[in-house]
Amino acid sequence: MANDGTRDDAEAQPEWRKDFPIDVPADQYVARRDFAKFLVLTSAAFVAGQGWIAAQDLVRKNRATAARARIGLLSETPIGTASVFRYPTPHDPCLLIRPEKDVLLAYSQACTHLSCAVVPKIEEGVLYCPCHAGYFDLKTGRNIAGPPPRPLPRIVLAIEGDEIFAVGVDERTV
Ligand code: FES
Repeated sequence: MANDGTRDDAEAQPEWRKDFPIDVPADQYVARRDFAKFLVLTSAAFVAGQGWIAAQDLVRKNRATAARARIGLLSETPIGTASVFRYPTPHDPCLLIRPEKDVLLAYSQACTHLSCAVVPKIEEGVLYCPCHAGYFDLKTGRNIAGPPPRPLPRIVLAIEGDEIFAVGVDERTV
């Protein structure tokens, strides 16, 4: 019997197929309109992604050119201690760390994984993120263990006499 879509074909089908008459070729047919819709949506997602990247880049550049702010005094920053300050906005907690007499370090306190506050462990030479056990090197701010994907942003400091100023944010990707 020829399989030419005639009534004979229909009668030759098993009983269950009559109860569930799915037209497979029609079901799998992708209309040109559907394909065009897919292309438009994919392109829109791509454009949105590029826009997001550009916006992030702009935010980083603006942070890098943040205003100068006085964040403390050397005489009030004991060796072996860390303190919190806010820079470049009141919503950006940062750490000022003095591990040795002539070493002053400053980083954003927001972990680069999911923004939990990192905790300095000066004796161990690390900054620790308690949320998912992330570790950063104290001297460089680089991510050394756990989920954080990149180093902590470094706060650029300037010392004038006894005064400590934050003068910029160094965002780093590696
Ligand atoms: S938020 Fe810091 S390791 Fe996840």
